[in-house]
Amino acid sequence: MKLVVNPGKKLAKINKNIYGHFSEHLGRCIYEGLYVGEDSDIENIDGIRVDVLNALRQIKLPVLRWPGGCFADEYHWKDGIGPKENRKKMINTHWGGVVEDNSFGTHEFMRLCELIGCEPYINGNVGSGTVQEMSEWVEYMTFNGLSPMAKLREENGQKDPWTVKYFGVGNENWGCGGNMRPEYYADLYRRFSTYVRNYGDNKVYKIACGSNNFDYNWTDVVMKIAGPFMDGLSLHYYTVPGDDWENKGSATEFSDEDYYLTLKKTLLMEEIVSKHSAIMDKYDPEKRVGLLVDEWGTWFDVEEGTNPGFLYQQNTMRDALVAGINLNIFNKHADRVQMANIAQLVNVLQAIILTEGDKIILTPTYHVFDMYAKHQENTLLESKVFNDMVGTKDNQIPNVVESASVNEDGQVIITLCHTDLSEDVIMDIELLDSQVESVTGEYVSGASSDHNTFENPDCVVKHEMKDIKIEDNHLQVTMAPCSVIQLTVTPKA
Ligand code: AHR
Repeated sequence: MKLVVNPGKKLAKINKNIYGHFSEHLGRCIYEGLYVGEDSDIENIDGIRVDVLNALRQIKLPVLRWPGGCFADEYHWKDGIGPKENRKKMINTHWGGVVEDNSFGTHEFMRLCELIGCEPYINGNVGSGTVQEMSEWVEYMTFNGLSPMAKLREENGQKDPWTVKYFGVGNENWGCGGNMRPEYYADLYRRFSTYVRNYGDNKVYKIACGSNNFDYNWTDVVMKIAGPFMDGLSLHYYTVPGDDWENKGSATEFSDEDYYLTLKKTLLMEEIVSKHSAIMDKYDPEKRVGLLVDEWGTWFDVEEGTNPGFLYQQNTMRDALVAGINLNIFNKHADRVQMANIAQLVNVLQAIILTEGDKIILTPTYHVFDMYAKHQENTLLESKVFNDMVGTKDNQIPNVVESASVNEDGQVIITLCHTDLSEDVIMDIELLDSQVESVTGEYVSGASSDHNTFENPDCVVKHEMKDIKIEDNHLQVTMAPCSVIQLTVTPKA
C-alpha cells in the first residue's frame, strides 16, 4: 500500500474552523453537558463545567455554533437576557417538549466561548423572527456607543461589546426553519441580512442557509439570487445508515455490513461537497463565498430508555472513522470549505463528550479531533493514496482515506483512516524530494463497536505509534484494522 505526499505542492490554507463544533438547546447538550449553573456541586466557572472546558481547550476548539439548529428559528434572544428569575420559560417544541427556562442565553454563551478561547457563531431566527429582532441582536452584541441595545447590554452587566464575526441568517429554512422554497428564502435572506450591520470594527461574516444533502437546486437558486450578499453558505449532511428515520440503526450494535454501509454513506460527503462547490464556482469563481458544512456527523437511534427527542447516542470506533474521513475530505476541499461543525458537542448525536452527573467520558470522535488539531491553519499538500477496495459485496469502500498538510515550521502532518476491519496493512509513505529527519505518530484503533462507557472510560484512547521505519524519503507504518492515525514528519533541513 502506498501514499505519495508532495511537500513541494502547496494547495489551499486549511481554515481552523473546519474543526468547529455545534451546540444546540437540544437534550442535554447545553444544560447538564455544558452548563450546570453557578449553584451546582459540579465544579464550574460561571455555571460552565470545568471538566468539559478543559477537554475542549485541549483540542483547540476554534468556533462554536449556537443556539441551533431547528431551535434557532424558534429562539427569541430577548427571552434569554436579564435577571434569570425574570427570564421567560418556553416549551422546546422541537426537542422533547421540555421546558426551556432560558437560563443560558447570549451572555452565558459568550462567556462559554471566552472560556474555551473560541469564536462564537450565532445563528439568527428567520423562520419565526423579525428583521428588527435579528438586527437588534447584532446591535446588542456588537455596538459600542449610545444606542438602545448597547444600553440594555450594559444594564445586563456587559459594558463592552463582544466581537461576533460569524452570524447565520436562519437554519434549514427549507425544513424546520419555515418550509420555504429557495426563491422565497433567497429574497428573505437579502432582506434580513441587510440589517445585520457592521458596527465599529466588528465585521460580520454573513452566512446564508444552504442545502440539505443532495439538493443542488437550493444551492443554485440561493447563489444566483443572494450570492453577492453573503460571505458563507451552509450545507448539512448527516450519515444515517438505516433506510428511514424510524430505523436509523443502533450506535453500538451493528454488523460488519452496517459498518461498511455507514462509511460508504459518509464517503458521499466527497461527492456532495464537490457538486455544491461546482455550483458555487459558477456564480463565484474567485471562491469568495465559503461553503460551511455547519452540521454533519452520524445520526443513529437514541440509546434505549432515553428521551427520543434528546438524540443521545453512544459513539464507537465506527464514529472515529466517520470523523476522520469527513475531516480529511474537508481538508482536501480547503479552497472552498471554510468551516465545518460536527453535530453536536456534548450528549447529542456524534458527540465528542458524554456526561452523566459529575462524570464525563471522551468519545473516540474526541480523540480524532485531538489528533487532527495539528492540521489547523496549515497548508494543504498534494497527496495521493493508491487504494485497495474493502468491505462486503454490496458495500465496497476504499481502505484508506488520507490528507496531508504542512505547518509553519515545515513539518508535514498526515492523517490516515484505515477502514478495513480484518487485517494490518503496511503503508509506505513517500515524501517527494524531502529526506525525513524524524517522525512521531499517534492513533486510535479497536473493534468497530468499541466505545467508552462511564464504567470503562478508557476502552478507546489515543496511543503513541511505535516502530515507524524511516529510510531516506520513505516512511513505513503498520495500520491496524479500523484505525485513525496521525503522523508528524520533520523533514531534513
Ligand atoms: O442537529 C439536530 C438537528 O438536525 C438540527 O437542529 C437541525 O438543523 C438538523 O435537522
